[in-house]
Amino acid sequence: MKKLTVGLVGCGTVGKGVAHLIRSKQAFIRARYNVDLRLKTLCDLKIDKKFLGTIGKVHTTHDFNELIQDPQIDLVIELIGGHHPALEIIKGALQNGKHVVTANKAVISTFGQELFRLAHKVSRSIYFETTVLAGVPIVKTLTEGIAGNQYAGLHGIVNGTCNFILSEMESNGIAFDEAVKLAQAKGYAEADPSLDINGKDSAHKLAVLVMLAMGKFIQGSDIYTEGITHIAPEDLKYAEEMGLTIKLLAIAKKKGDGIEARVHPTLISKKHPLASVKGVYNAVQLEADILGDLLLVGKGAGQMAAASGVLSDLINAGLDNATTDRTWIGDAPEELGALKLLSMDKIETEFYIRLMIIDRPGVLSKITGILGAYGISIASLTQKTVSKNNVVPLVMLTHTAKEIDVRRALEKIVKLGSVKAEPVAIRMEPL
Ligand code: HSE
Repeated sequence: MKKLTVGLVGCGTVGKGVAHLIRSKQAFIRARYNVDLRLKTLCDLKIDKKFLGTIGKVHTTHDFNELIQDPQIDLVIELIGGHHPALEIIKGALQNGKHVVTANKAVISTFGQELFRLAHKVSRSIYFETTVLAGVPIVKTLTEGIAGNQYAGLHGIVNGTCNFILSEMESNGIAFDEAVKLAQAKGYAEADPSLDINGKDSAHKLAVLVMLAMGKFIQGSDIYTEGITHIAPEDLKYAEEMGLTIKLLAIAKKKGDGIEARVHPTLISKKHPLASVKGVYNAVQLEADILGDLLLVGKGAGQMAAASGVLSDLINAGLDNATTDRTWIGDAPEELGALKLLSMDKIETEFYIRLMIIDRPGVLSKITGILGAYGISIASLTQKTVSKNNVVPLVMLTHTAKEIDVRRALEKIVKLGSVKAEPVAIRMEPL
């Protein structure tokens, strides 16, 4: 029987779930995997006494150094999130000869290469299944399940909070703020929910996916990122009338010697499988060269969805089955590492544009004239009948256009006296 004694730093929602699972699944893990998994120490600034009474005999500390220097601990679970002191905890644990399990996408997307190299150097492993899609095994899928495949692109719904908010707004007509509160109450959102709704959490996850699928280390902060705060219920309604829905998508595509990587609200056909991924469910669709398209779907946020990913990493650590032992993690092959991250100006896509305009003769021709001057071709155009003070919504879909041309055209359009609010422009993916 392999003994695996672990210490856990971060006793929030997910940490508590993991501590409970280690206890409740102990006998099963011994029987099925021949691994004797034990939680020795819990570390956090504050630890709930009532919770401690439910997990058996566990030592507690406020000082993570005590845990990472304990010679009896084989592996440290880092669940505090954010950059610091998470980075110091992970490095300290590796340098003290311990394996690491982390759910921290901010740290892996920012310092991944440095950390994986350190892990190789000290012959220890970092397990990070929970960084993307919580417990849904996208990391194992990319590194082992369909090893040998290469990817032309991927599309993901990787933030449970945003998907929950958009689904609630669309299906139940619930207001944005109310949906955010509900997502927080259900334990989906980050400690700071702005990371979810401004798209940063998705950008961190996309950086991890690009690293695994395309062998390129990019920083979450280098990825073009737009959140969902500007999405209005009427845009969801107009989209629905056209057989479309709006999802916050994380998108990566190989283009020649470059990679497009972007996170933004995106219109997709209601008929595409990603459109039926609702609520807290997440999904990643991979375009694999050998297997073809593959869609992984499951709960992407919440206490047990995340705790499941951490438990799976712990069992894999007990079985010495480490993702980071794959040599290309940490040292991408030359030809992949050389891929360039393309700037947004180079992107070409279709757009949904909503303008609030004064309903009077000549207005439309000025708008379509500006679009035409920038080479933007209109695929459909509808003036809605809802009118407030003679201001009406004008909804257009464009054919494929250059991002930079659309931006410049809208800058001109907004200066027309007849346009009464900031234009809404949402990119579309012809999936
Ligand atoms: N806040 C994240 C989400 C949790 O909503 O998806 C999982 O990373």
